[in-house]
Amino acid sequence: MSVYALSDAEFKLLRDWVYAQAGINLSPAKKPLVMSRLQKRLIHFGLNSFGEYHQLITGGVERTEPQIALDLLTTNETYFFREPKHFDFLRDRALPARLPGTTFRVWSAACSSGEEVWSIAMLLASHLAPGTWEIMGSDISTRVLARAQSAHYAMERAEHIPRALLTRFCLRGVGSQEGTFRIVPDLRRRVSFRQINLIAPLPDVGLFDLIFLRNVLIYFDMETKAAVVRQLCSVLRPGGFFFCGHSESLHGMNLPLTSLHPAIYQRQARG
Ligand SMILES: C[S@@+](CC[C@H](N)C(=O)[O-])C[C@H]1O[C@@H](n2cnc3c(N)ncnc32)[C@H](O)[C@@H]1O
Repeated sequence: MSVYALSDAEFKLLRDWVYAQAGINLSPAKKPLVMSRLQKRLIHFGLNSFGEYHQLITGGVERTEPQIALDLLTTNETYFFREPKHFDFLRDRALPARLPGTTFRVWSAACSSGEEVWSIAMLLASHLAPGTWEIMGSDISTRVLARAQSAHYAMERAEHIPRALLTRFCLRGVGSQEGTFRIVPDLRRRVSFRQINLIAPLPDVGLFDLIFLRNVLIYFDMETKAAVVRQLCSVLRPGGFFFCGHSESLHGMNLPLTSLHPAIYQRQARG
C-alpha cells in the first residue's frame, strides 16, 4: 500500500507518459500497481506527490530517471520453456525448414530477463551444428536486459528446464553461488542482447528466420499491436515463423502472416 495518494489526474499524466514512451496501455485497474511501484522513487527524491514525480521524469534534468520509471512500470514475468508448444514447433517444423547454408537467426523481442532466449538457445544448440545459429534478445527495460545478459538465475527458476538440457547447458553455482545456476559460455557466445523499443523505428537488425513476440502485445492497444507486428514482419524473411503469446490475437490486422496454429504464424512471400 502506498503512503502517497495518486489522484485520477496524476494517474492520467503517468498513464499518458508510459503510453507515449512504450505503447503500454495502463487500465484504471493498474492504479494500485503504479502507486506501489513508483512510491520508492518519490521517497528517494523526497517528493510530495506523483505529480511532482511526473514533472521530474519529463523535466529533462534527472536524465536516468525516465528509464528507471519504465523499468518499474513494465511487467516482466517470464520463465524457462514457457508455452512449450512453441518449442515443439521450433524443433519439429522450423528447424527442418531452415534455409540450407545460412545462419539460423532468431529474435526474442521483449525477452525480459532472458529465460525465453536461453530456452531457445538450449534447443538450437541441441539440434544444430555450432556456429550455424544465433539469437538476439531485446527489451525496452535495461534492468531486465542486465539480468538476461548475466545468464545467472536462482535454482528455483530451473523448474521447467528438461533435465538433459539442464545437465548439458547449465552450470551449478558453488560456494557463494550455491543455489544458483549459470548458462554455459558456449551458449552465451551465440546470443546478443540490445535495448529495442518496439514502438520506435527499428535499428538495423538484419533478417530473421523466426521471431518470438510473446506476452507483450497484451499491453498494447489494437493500433499499436498492428504497427509493432507489421514492423517486425519487415525483418522476418518470407517463409519465416512468428510466435505470439497464446492469449494474444493478431485477428483483423491485415498482416502479411498466415496463421498455422494458435499463436504460430508464417511470413507470406509478399506484403
Ligand atoms: C511479460 S514480459 C514477456 C517475456 C517473454 N517474452 C515471455 O513471454 O515470457 C513482457 C516484456 O515486454 C517488455 N516491453 C514492454 N513494452 C515494450 C516495448 N515498447 N518495447 C520493447 N519491450 C517492451 C517489458 O519490459 C517486459 O520485459
